[in-house]
Amino acid sequence: MKKLFLKAGDQLSKISIIGGAGTLGTAIAYQLSNHQNIDEICLIDKNRNLLLNHVMDFQNAFPAKKIYEGTYNDLKRSDIIIITAGIPNRNDITSRNVFLEGNLKLFHDLGAEIKKHAPDALIVTASNPVDLLNYYLYRKFGFRKQQLIGFTRNDSLRFEWAIRKTMQLSARDQVFSPVIGEHGESQVLLFSHLKINGLPIKMSMDQIGQIKEQIQGWFIQFNQLNINRTTGWTTANGMGELVTKLLDPTPSEFIGSAVLEGEYGVSDVSIGVPITISNEGIHGVQEWDLNVVERGFFQNSVNQVKDYMKSPVFI
Ligand SMILES: NC(=O)c1ccc[n+]([C@@H]2O[C@H](COP(=O)([O-])OP(=O)(O)OC[C@H]3O[C@@H](n4cnc5c(N)ncnc54)[C@H](O)[C@@H]3O)[C@@H](O)[C@H]2O)c1
Repeated sequence: MKKLFLKAGDQLSKISIIGGAGTLGTAIAYQLSNHQNIDEICLIDKNRNLLLNHVMDFQNAFPAKKIYEGTYNDLKRSDIIIITAGIPNRNDITSRNVFLEGNLKLFHDLGAEIKKHAPDALIVTASNPVDLLNYYLYRKFGFRKQQLIGFTRNDSLRFEWAIRKTMQLSARDQVFSPVIGEHGESQVLLFSHLKINGLPIKMSMDQIGQIKEQIQGWFIQFNQLNINRTTGWTTANGMGELVTKLLDPTPSEFIGSAVLEGEYGVSDVSIGVPITISNEGIHGVQEWDLNVVERGFFQNSVNQVKDYMKSPVFI
């Protein structure tokens, strides 16, 4: 696979965003426009006038960068393609899986376009349900599993937020707060791998209860605001971290949804796990020690995702 990381003075990187006029697409485009190793951002969206409105704004905001509205033909030469396209959000949902049927139809078309115009690009899926759609790209279009990452970083960021609130930490404190499993209700908060300022920490049952309660209540509260907007800023922040790692030749750790083939005793599914990534994509899945409770929760999460794969819409 071609090397994507380019030194100063060389050609910089190109990112394409499918769904570029939406909440996620625009927030990510803004975040990546500030990235020093990116000089070209192609935005694709079926809502053309809204897209043009954002493009004209972005071009003035970042005059040195090439930011434009594209068609699928413009996916060629993309180093990374980020998919945020989706059917409209709904406030009445308790699970991201309600978007499966509508977004599968959409992925059926855009997967074919990516295969045709940029078959070797790294592909990051943010559209929901992340795990199922990432696996669909693998199974339906035969992209290599190393190319495909489902974006689940918001779960770890939300875990960090709840920990900071509960423990009353300061901005100077460093928190490592991994979440694995489905990007959805069955996600697994890895308390056993939690670190504050580089050191493992054992929380009381009361603290664990408070943290879980805040996270479980968060999605419901957010939707009950009834404004049909998703988490643009959280996603832009996490996507900035992910793209930085995907442009770097030095492998580093991240948590994302990856296609498993035997890791953690699991196959034929994409689900959130610790992965090693670089500008060549996913190097491998890290198999962390999980305690017996976490292993059970993880297996339950795998089962939940696999149950949706049995649905007639997925087959
Ligand atoms: N992974 C995560 O952490 C995370 C976080 C928030 C939202 N999401 C998901 O990301 C997706 C996008 O969320 P959003 O709030 O940006 O939605 P949005 O409705 O604001 O944006 C979606 C965009 O996709 C475009 N679109 C629809 N069909 C298209 C097609 N065929 N071709 C090109 N563009 C098309 C729409 O015009 C729209 O601009 C949703 O599925 C949402 O559930 C994921």
